[in-house]
Amino acid sequence: MNEQTKAAVQAFEKLIEEQLERKNRIESNSEKNDFANKDKITVGLCDGDGIGPTIMDSVRRVLNVLIDEETSSGKIVLKDIKGLTIDRRLQTGKPIPLDTLEELKMCDVILKGPTTTPHGGTLESANVTMRRELDLYANVRPVRIPEKNIDWTFFRENSEGEYVLGSKGLKITDGMTVDFKITTEAGTRRIARAAFDYAQKNGKTNVAIVTKANIMKKTDGMFSEIAHEVAKEYPEITVDDWYIDIMTANLINEDIRDKFQVFLLPNLYGDILTDEAAQIQGGVGTAGSANIGDRYAMFEAIHGSAPRMIEQGLGKYANPSSIIKAAAMMLRHIHLFGKAQRLEEALEKCSASCVMTGDERGKTCIEFTDELINLL
Ligand code: IPM
Ligand code: MG
Repeated sequence: MNEQTKAAVQAFEKLIEEQLERKNRIESNSEKNDFANKDKITVGLCDGDGIGPTIMDSVRRVLNVLIDEETSSGKIVLKDIKGLTIDRRLQTGKPIPLDTLEELKMCDVILKGPTTTPHGGTLESANVTMRRELDLYANVRPVRIPEKNIDWTFFRENSEGEYVLGSKGLKITDGMTVDFKITTEAGTRRIARAAFDYAQKNGKTNVAIVTKANIMKKTDGMFSEIAHEVAKEYPEITVDDWYIDIMTANLINEDIRDKFQVFLLPNLYGDILTDEAAQIQGGVGTAGSANIGDRYAMFEAIHGSAPRMIEQGLGKYANPSSIIKAAAMMLRHIHLFGKAQRLEEALEKCSASCVMTGDERGKTCIEFTDELINLL
């Protein structure tokens, strides 16, 4: 074996061992947070970067009004977590500085503004790190357009696939690089269960499994196989297999798209398809995103930190809708169902009356928030 091959095989061996350990951890995990019966729930608030602090200020103001009763009684504790900034990530060389990670682990749920990830280099995205460290395996993204009869909920596997080793690919030699995609049975089973449970509890009758199992035969092949196995436990729900390429077309095919209800997908396809879906809804700034595990959950805006808006001095026009939707999902997750609904209804009215254009032609984030609080 030549030196290059030897180095690559050694690196691969280490990665595989780590992944086998991860697989064992998933299989033996039993810790679960029971929000229905919890006396005190700690909600961590992370501003993030770019427009993050602006939209998180909006959420803070809204929560201060909406859940005043719960915070006054001590049932809910809102805790500011300051350390999750790009400056600190660059300074510590860690996607989430260790002290910040400790603080996050003391919370039950987290509401997070967008974080910036440098292009290239090896610094992992803070998002990906948080999803992994807190084992947030289900990325749930609803997209609704009532006037078009669209009511979609995406269950994107959030801890495996191309992401788990996304920053650990190998440069074998000049001119040749390799990345990895990992799928485990336990990892697939838990996301499939989350999707089918949701479908069952919400009166949905169909789950679309979206893969590229004709090409990614091992990983996507197993994903689809396990999803079908789980489906057998839900005989009242029908399932269809789709390939990701045709599904991207289906979402803009007005003849069939309103038939879809729940989508179950591996990580990267879920990433891509949910941006498309959010755009159909009105833009990536309009969708909320939940990252759910058994112990922790994190809720975030689906969009990025919008560095260009900041550079152009337009940060104050950032639209907080996505993070507000995420906040509503968080309230529902911790069983504050009525409050979640109040927030969603107010947001819908506010979005209709308060036009945001991302610049001086529209309202500012503060004006939008004032209006939203009036409507609560
Ligand atoms: C998302 C984002 C993230 C992802 C980035 C920021 C790492 O695009 O939440 O969809 O790719 O998962
Ligand atoms: Mg994305």
